[in-house]
Amino acid sequence: MKIGLPKEIKNNENRVGLIPAGVYELVKNGHSVYVQSSAGVGSGFVDADYASVGAQIVPDIETVYDLAEMIVKVKEPIASEYPLIKQDQVIFTYFHFASSTELTRAMIDSKAVCIAYETVEDEDGTLPLLTPMSEVAGRMAIQQGAKYLEKPIKGRGVLLGGVPGVPPGKVLVLGAGVVGLQAAKMAAGLGAHVTILDINMKRLRHVNDIMPSHVVTEYSSEYNIKRHIKNHDLIIGGVLVKGGKAPKLITRDMLKEMRPGTVMVDVAVDQGGCFETTRATTHENPTYIIDDIVHYCVANMPGAVPYTSTLALTNVTLPYVLKLANLGYEEACAKNNDLAKGLNIVKGEIVYDEIKEFFEDKV
Ligand SMILES: NC(=O)c1ccc[n+]([C@@H]2O[C@H](COP(=O)([O-])OP(=O)(O)OC[C@H]3O[C@@H](n4cnc5c(N)ncnc54)[C@H](O)[C@@H]3O)[C@@H](O)[C@H]2O)c1
Repeated sequence: MKIGLPKEIKNNENRVGLIPAGVYELVKNGHSVYVQSSAGVGSGFVDADYASVGAQIVPDIETVYDLAEMIVKVKEPIASEYPLIKQDQVIFTYFHFASSTELTRAMIDSKAVCIAYETVEDEDGTLPLLTPMSEVAGRMAIQQGAKYLEKPIKGRGVLLGGVPGVPPGKVLVLGAGVVGLQAAKMAAGLGAHVTILDINMKRLRHVNDIMPSHVVTEYSSEYNIKRHIKNHDLIIGGVLVKGGKAPKLITRDMLKEMRPGTVMVDVAVDQGGCFETTRATTHENPTYIIDDIVHYCVANMPGAVPYTSTLALTNVTLPYVLKLANLGYEEACAKNNDLAKGLNIVKGEIVYDEIKEFFEDKV
């Protein structure tokens, strides 16, 4: 199969859909890979790295789309890419159709085969192509939170690990899913005192089993949240209600109960956020302050660490890319239920129920 790797053109997106190790596997399996010049630079891979494993470097994005039977990328296509997409071309990437009717319409009109990373689903209901980005964001939440706790950037001036004779900082983690677990792990590693809340007892049992004793689990209730925000330095929002908006666990009123300089990192911002005062920010301007509380609400946290994020993402996408290339999308999806769940739009027709409902409601 002819596979195309375009350079991401969405603002500040430095990840790339295939790394040289992936191209190596595809070429070994008899496929041709067309890489747009400088596609991997933002993630630390130069054209020569791709060429050395058998990729053909092409000068522009038009040539990539023109030559390829399958496009592998990271972010959803943006308007300038719509006309490049051809009928029957397989596009394997994050789409998030529910957030854009314009994109949905464009992909229906293109008559391409759109397989979305975010809906590929394992037998146990987990989303294997979303998990690594939550892992990155969860770990990063502590790194960012620790930084914004510094006084010159308006934080409380607390060192999370403390020092001998001074107690460590306190971290409150809302949600014990992928983000919450990774955040708790990083905070515990720094020596902070960690409280992690969830409404799912199975998750709390798991965390309790694997974490050291300075990570304390508690059931998530308004009462417990109100009690803890008063004396925690860093609060991480990592809750998710599948298919719904994040619940507002910390309201504007509650900010007055916190100590000035407390830092709140809302990782769940992409689902509306779990703090009432959350509004999405960018890496250029990641924080804002309300009632002396520092808010960090960057909607694409993994974008700041493209090297790690690209490796984490391509580790999990490559096995699917290989199946699609070796078998063709029809046979690959017929043989793999998890991949079949990724089919969102096929040759002009929405084939994923939730997206169909969403789209029919909007038009
Ligand atoms: N900002 C970013 O860059 C970025 C990156 C990756 C993921 N995310 C987002 O982070 C959020 C969390 O993702 P995840 O992969 O950890 O999800 P997950 O499903 O693994 O975990 C979510 C957890 O929240 C818990 N929860 C639900 N309601 C709760 C409540 N009232 N109180 C406490 N816990 C509650 C659930 O029981 C679950 O354990 C999602 O919205 C995801 O989209 C954001």
